[in-house]
Amino acid sequence: MNRINAAITAVGGYLPEDKLTNADLEKMVDTNDEWIMTRVGIKERRILKDPNKGASFLAIQAVKDLLGRSQIDPASIDGLILATNTQDYHFPTTASIVAHETGCVNAFTFDLISACPSFLYALETGANYIRSGRYQRLLIVATEKMSAAIDYTDRATCPLFGDGSGCVLLEPTTEELGVMDAHFRTDGSGRDHLICKAGGSARPASHETVDRREHYVYQEGAAVFKHAVRAMASSCRVVMERNNLRYEDINWVVPHQANQRIIDAVAREMEAPMERVMVNIQYCGNTSSATIPILLWERERDLKKGDNLILTSFGAGFTWGAIYLKWAYDPK
Ligand code: UT7
Repeated sequence: MNRINAAITAVGGYLPEDKLTNADLEKMVDTNDEWIMTRVGIKERRILKDPNKGASFLAIQAVKDLLGRSQIDPASIDGLILATNTQDYHFPTTASIVAHETGCVNAFTFDLISACPSFLYALETGANYIRSGRYQRLLIVATEKMSAAIDYTDRATCPLFGDGSGCVLLEPTTEELGVMDAHFRTDGSGRDHLICKAGGSARPASHETVDRREHYVYQEGAAVFKHAVRAMASSCRVVMERNNLRYEDINWVVPHQANQRIIDAVAREMEAPMERVMVNIQYCGNTSSATIPILLWERERDLKKGDNLILTSFGAGFTWGAIYLKWAYDPK
């Protein structure tokens, strides 16, 4: 019997309408377009301005986009795994809200949190559910309202992040397509370099933590930068070597979008020409776990059946990894 593989058979996405430009940021903190463009490569990011809408709102739009365009009955979805670092509430899960609002009434649901690589972890987790033979249709969703976690008085972090959501449908196939391999690693000694210091059980919310603005993202950028390049390049090398892939066999590198300079460095390490590297950081910023599925959604029409993709990400923890994906369909 042929083994079951887990293939991506549809994509969806959503970016909120409001844009936060570098010119806007220049009015908020001591920064300028030249610094942001040369050090990071971001011109603008999308922001969900409505304070009464959380990350679930973005995910609901992305899932509806996928279901609507592929004419899939939401009741046929067996499970919905939602990657996020900006869940609506500590509990209930954001996945349960998204499933309810999109009509996925027969789906098991859970949130999966592993910083920026959360989507890659969710994709490999979902692929294993499919490989088990017990599930036919899984939605893997990533959604982030990063603007809710960002201190817009901190110039070191506020230019970096944006809001958005992307999702994919996973289905079984007996063809040699889909999620072919994955490599993940963690180094918890990096935890202090990228952290939300308060609001969890280690440091619950108090007047003091709010006064000290400890509920926002804190990052020591240079330390994160150094580890990010090394770690992503090393995971990419592992999946390529394990699958006998040469550089010229890779059709697309789909890297996490944290910094154009990091993307360039990873591409250099992989000897991938930039025209084969997906990039949208200029107008999306860093949407944390959502960067990679948003890219797949935006670039769906460039992908052909059998294309070899390497997805790679790095984030807080530190945690990082790479997935080797064989694209399963031609442009629809
Ligand atoms: O997605 C999760 C993983 N995250 C990442 O992978 C992010 C990794 N890190 C980075 O992308 C970069 O480190 C940053 C973009 C965050 C920062 O770039 P950098 O080149 O590492 O800058 P830096 O933090 O070393 O700061 C350099 C200078 C400092 O001034 P001095 O001390 O040299 O006088 C900062 O105060 O740039 C200054 N600076 C700014 N200047 C204008 C920091 N932020 C700003 C700003 N505008 N927004």
